[in-house]
Amino acid sequence: MDHFLYKNGTLHAEEVAIPEIATAVGTPFYVYSTATLTRHYRLFTEALTPLPHLVCFAIKSLSNVAVLKTLGNLGAGMDVVSGGEYLRAKAAGVPGSRIVFSGVGKTREEMRMALTGGIRQFNVESEPEMRALSEVASSLGVSAPIAVRVNPDVDAKTHEKIATGKKENKFGIPIARASEVYAEAARLPGLQVVGIDVHIGSQLTELEPFEQAYLKVADLTHRLRSEGHTITRLDLGGGLGIPYQRSNDAPPLPTDYGALIKRTVGDLGCEVEIEPGRLISGNAGLLIAGVIYVKNGEGRDFLILDAAMNDLVRPSMYGAHHDIVPVAEPPVASPTQEFDVVGPVCETGDTFAKGRDLPLVGEGDLVAFRSAGAYGAVMASEYNTRPLIPEVLVNGDHFAVIRARPSFDEILNRDSIPSWL
Ligand code: LLP
Repeated sequence: MDHFLYKNGTLHAEEVAIPEIATAVGTPFYVYSTATLTRHYRLFTEALTPLPHLVCFAIKSLSNVAVLKTLGNLGAGMDVVSGGEYLRAKAAGVPGSRIVFSGVGKTREEMRMALTGGIRQFNVESEPEMRALSEVASSLGVSAPIAVRVNPDVDAKTHEKIATGKKENKFGIPIARASEVYAEAARLPGLQVVGIDVHIGSQLTELEPFEQAYLKVADLTHRLRSEGHTITRLDLGGGLGIPYQRSNDAPPLPTDYGALIKRTVGDLGCEVEIEPGRLISGNAGLLIAGVIYVKNGEGRDFLILDAAMNDLVRPSMYGAHHDIVPVAEPPVASPTQEFDVVGPVCETGDTFAKGRDLPLVGEGDLVAFRSAGAYGAVMASEYNTRPLIPEVLVNGDHFAVIRARPSFDEILNRDSIPSWL
């Protein structure tokens, strides 16, 4: 459920009419709903209660500081994968004690930043990384709390580009080698083992792969404890999928996911951490675009929008589906037309949807891409020198621009011309 509904014939974000925002900021833009972000975060905390837990929002899915502050104020932790994301979490006022640092390629500089600024735990993904962290922490005279990310060799049954838990993926250490790696962690100076980490992929639409992975983590917890390690936290990753196609998709609910967690690892006496991104942010955001032209092509009609693949790359990168709806509510049983929905970028890959049945829309009309809050704005680029588009946050009956559209001067001023030219 989200808070983007038609009211009096016009699509609203909570109590704000989308055309009102379009008039204020111009199209295209992203708009996020505070009520939806809040609701989704709470679904997870409620699903995990009464287990001791921390829901760490995966910042990579939507990293605007205003969004992070919204969630941070509710008590959310943050899952970061770069120094930049770490600084965003801090800028949102989230204490280091609620920030988890994941990622396969943390640099020594990033480790130093997090160790001096405060960190709940590093999710360590390899032995070389573990040794580097040991050196950095020792040189600072501190102890780095770590969980080792294990790769359980489980098929997440999702798009191959976002599956992470198979043995051929670059993530984590093979679970079969965990004893060896934890033994080395215990020997190295400057490290304090606190738990185990696992994340098998994103946009999972079944619970069964989670179950397989979590049962393996439960076994490993017993084994590592018997080998003398203190395991007090289990970071179970993110990955729960969302319904992108409202008419068809029905992924499992956070309550079912919470029940699964309780069933598989609930009796281990550990604090549970999860790292959901998409389920919190995905359906909390829309991409709003304007129709530039309707072009009648050879056997097909093109809806040419002012948004393009540089603004929302998921369809072109993963063949992802996003529902597209007109901002002006179509009358019941109004005729539809098949369109190829495209942007102005100069490549055929700049296609959002092919042969999509849409209510009649024409030049100047507004359309909304649903489920665009996650991996939308964060993956945008300035390809074709198209400025990054604004982000707007709605809260009840008011809205604020939380990232403004840069001017062309700002963009051009980032380039510099060497003295010999
Ligand atoms: N934790 C780790 C270690 C991750 O790598 C990810 C996502 C998450 C948590 C959050 O997963 P979520 O709950 O959002 O599924 N750009 C792709 C998705 C990439 C996901 C990468 N890792 C997309 O647009 O579908």
